Amino acid sequence: MDTLLKKDLEQIDEILEGAKATSLSYLDHLNEAVPNIGVSNMSKQTWNIKAGIGAKKALDLFKSHYAPYISATAGPNFYGYVTGGSTPAALLGDWLTSAYDQVSSVTPITAKHESDTIALYRELFGLPTDFFGSFVTGGTTSNMVNLAGARQWVYQQLGWDGSKNGLDTSSGTLKVFAATPHSSTYKSLSILGIGRDNLELVQRLPNREAIDVSDLEKRLSVNPEKPSIVVASAGTVNTGDFDDFLALGKLKEKYNFWLHIDGAFGGFASVADDYKYLVSGWESADSIAIDAHKWLNVPYDAAFQFTKHPGLQRQVFQNGNVPYLEGDGATQDFMNYVPENSRRWRSLPAWFTLLAYGKEGYAEIVGRNCHLASELGHRIKDHEQLDLLGEVRLNIVCFAAKIDSGIDTKVLLEHINATNKVFLTPTVYKDRFAIRVAVSNWRTGQKEIDNLYQIIASVTQSLSK
Ligand SMILES: Cc1ncc(COP(=O)(O)O)c(C=O)c1O
Repeated sequence: MDTLLKKDLEQIDEILEGAKATSLSYLDHLNEAVPNIGVSNMSKQTWNIKAGIGAKKALDLFKSHYAPYISATAGPNFYGYVTGGSTPAALLGDWLTSAYDQVSSVTPITAKHESDTIALYRELFGLPTDFFGSFVTGGTTSNMVNLAGARQWVYQQLGWDGSKNGLDTSSGTLKVFAATPHSSTYKSLSILGIGRDNLELVQRLPNREAIDVSDLEKRLSVNPEKPSIVVASAGTVNTGDFDDFLALGKLKEKYNFWLHIDGAFGGFASVADDYKYLVSGWESADSIAIDAHKWLNVPYDAAFQFTKHPGLQRQVFQNGNVPYLEGDGATQDFMNYVPENSRRWRSLPAWFTLLAYGKEGYAEIVGRNCHLASELGHRIKDHEQLDLLGEVRLNIVCFAAKIDSGIDTKVLLEHINATNKVFLTPTVYKDRFAIRVAVSNWRTGQKEIDNLYQIIASVTQSLSK
């Protein structure tokens, strides 16, 4: 054994203590640390890798060169994209995941644990047991895996096995309908060979991002027998809008389509009493994507993928009949349902955090985040130089400077972020440059939202003529 490696093995205790101390120096300052740091000021550095230096010295180098540029994205003042932090129990689970270093899918205990954990989350989300679930790396992969199942289903309806024969070009293009799909849906359609341009945008309800169901019906009735795919939203990124799943469920009784719901963050509406009405009827879906590294507040990268058609999904992701990779027959062979064969033990952080805080804990986090977003929305709506651009249904506040205020919203965003106290991200909503606030961190409370509003108001004031 290499002498440095041998020494590290002997000092594993101290190395892990170093990891703990470094972690704490980040976590203990999350409330005050800069939420988003650029790297343009970083000094140039070349690393000599010919001879090693051991883990402790590598940690010292990391701390001096990279660590000062780590953003507090896991903290309570980061409102960009839709970002969560890590609960203490999730972090515990994630540390253990690395320490145990199990090959999920091959090791029986991880497969058993994943099945048990999926069952707990089905219960949390109020989903019936006919949904099969697995862990994947994120919302994008979850959408992609579910849409792969959808593609297989469409082909099956047409008498074609896409998993064996490839794309069926003889039966015309495969149609996908959606009103406000997330960008990852387009990416998934590209990966799957369905094609980005074969997504047909359905009209939205007035002043909403939700599907106008009567317009969807019109489009479906053009070719009522032809199987198609409808991608619905449980939480759009701009305004957190939801499609009407009860109406879509009824439509499904009349037309032949696969209903996929992208609930990357909005799926968590189901855990809070005041918000679960938003997902009413979502159990009629064929597949659902829900992120874990967003509102569940577990470390990246983790998401749930639920489907009512595991057999079709398996046809797509079956790894071939390789004797050396056969499972024990007693536990679920997840590798035949998802893209990765070798998989991280993603169910462990998710299990820990749910056991630690329970349904009540998550109802509190989601309810608090939504309540705070709603309160911020009201304050922005009442501000004479700001426009609230959509009703705050969940945890997203979308706003811009009033057109007649003379304030450029882009400049407003730049100045807000330049305070280095909070971080918000841009969007374009109804052809207008806009700012989004996504409240999805377990640490964010009243104090942080008051502070955010103060910053928005004082920057607005400083820019007004
Ligand atoms: C609605 C929606 N779908 C999908 C995604 C993609 O998720 P991920 O970044 O985890 O791949 C996101 C991420 O913001 C999202 O908000």
